[in-house]
Amino acid sequence: MENTQKVNPTIIIILGATGDLTWRKLIPAVYNLYLDNWIPDSFEVIGVSRKRISEKSFREHLHDGVNKFSRRGKAKKTEWDKFSECITYLKGEFDDDATYSSLEKKTTALEKKWGVAANRIFYLAVPPNSFEEIAMKIGSSGLARNKQQGRIVIEKPFGHDLDSAKHLNDLLHSNFDECQIYRIDHYLGKETVQNILAFRFANALFEPIWNRNYIESVQISVSEQLGVENRGNYYETAGALRDMIQNHLMQLVCLIAMEPPVSFEADEVRNRKVDVLNALRKIHPFEVNQFAVRGQYGAGWINGKKVIGYREEPDVSATSAKETFAAMKLFIDNWRWQGVPIYLRTGKRMNETISVITVQFKPVPHQSFPPETIGNWQPNTLTINIQPHMGICLNFQAKRPGLKMLLYPVDMSFNYEESYTSGTPEAYETLLLDIMEGDSTLFMRADQVEAAWKAVMPIIDLWDANPAENFPNYEAGTTGPEDAEALIARDGHTWSVTLPEKK
Ligand code: BG6
Repeated sequence: MENTQKVNPTIIIILGATGDLTWRKLIPAVYNLYLDNWIPDSFEVIGVSRKRISEKSFREHLHDGVNKFSRRGKAKKTEWDKFSECITYLKGEFDDDATYSSLEKKTTALEKKWGVAANRIFYLAVPPNSFEEIAMKIGSSGLARNKQQGRIVIEKPFGHDLDSAKHLNDLLHSNFDECQIYRIDHYLGKETVQNILAFRFANALFEPIWNRNYIESVQISVSEQLGVENRGNYYETAGALRDMIQNHLMQLVCLIAMEPPVSFEADEVRNRKVDVLNALRKIHPFEVNQFAVRGQYGAGWINGKKVIGYREEPDVSATSAKETFAAMKLFIDNWRWQGVPIYLRTGKRMNETISVITVQFKPVPHQSFPPETIGNWQPNTLTINIQPHMGICLNFQAKRPGLKMLLYPVDMSFNYEESYTSGTPEAYETLLLDIMEGDSTLFMRADQVEAAWKAVMPIIDLWDANPAENFPNYEAGTTGPEDAEALIARDGHTWSVTLPEKK
């Protein structure tokens, strides 16, 4: 979508500017915002990193990233040349005060040139062990002293557990106001994820049945064919529960289960989301095995290619007990959701790459059709497909054409690719624009992050203290360990099949 209204003059300071995130995601996103006319005329990106590299090579490196990863494909030379004029580079150590005084000089000079106080956005595209130091330096240097316009952006993982998340929150709060802090969960920027709110609260049809009286269960599956790639070091400290469930999947749970907000003010939406997390039933240590399953991939086949097991991946211990798959069942103890199981599942090196939410409705209360009419009878399901094919599909029973009454399930579907021809923005485009506009609706507040950690801590504690003895327990290219099937089968359910491919 092209814009007609521009945001305030903005300086984005990317700390960790020569890293992967900047190359693959941030600059391609800023470039697309530029092409769509969202970027103000007074705008600059200052890349900061320890690397000794010229501004010219820095720009070339980013150009290469845009060519490779932009949703629009290769950048046109004239457009890129013009855009890249607003990119500068500063070599600096993150622990050195001189880096921050150079930034003060650069930002003040720009503001003087533009004649306004600009948004100063500090994007920490660095490993989590640098968050604290950088946040303190930005705070003590006074670079973000303007509370309305000084903003700090923190990527996940936000802490390693509840205590470290609290510690990081305390540290941030001693340097910034909560309204200056943008904790990114890129899932919240995805089109289909935002559409959950529109689907639920912009239609009168679904909300009346969106509760325990009509819904049997909810499933959220995020499976990836990719392995841990070159992130072995990080993944060995994280695992699937910390990497995906504590953040992305919990956020999806919030969107599916929250009460209707009174308005779309950031804090109202975030209050309703945190209500969900606060209502999650506590899992006691002795119950963890009934509520959660872990797995690790061994060697296998993906799309006809042999792939190695997790323990053979670079930077991974040959005896690693880290989970690359996690599934869990949770309950929300409130009036709307009491007794409805919510199943979460995520894994690497699975048979397919798909993120999907399935809402399974209850069966009809009375089956009036005679058994011979029922071809393949199933209760209604609503499938929200987040990726790769974005869409929503309602599955219901219909009479198959013919002289006899014969019931079969059919789909009523909404498919983004068919319905819209305009390009869909990447999650980072949405989130960066929101940061520039000062809208924190799609960002996690301190209490939200802590409540999400609280929900998974009993599992983390038990798993950390008791390394799995049966790893690897699923082959790459499969649907994960058998125990995950048992987790859901015990309640009489099965993991849902996925949406049909676009025809
Ligand atoms: C990241 C995780 O947050 O999300 C990765 O650290 C994961 O391990 C990625 O692969 C998945 O994101 P997406 O947008 O590709 O579904």
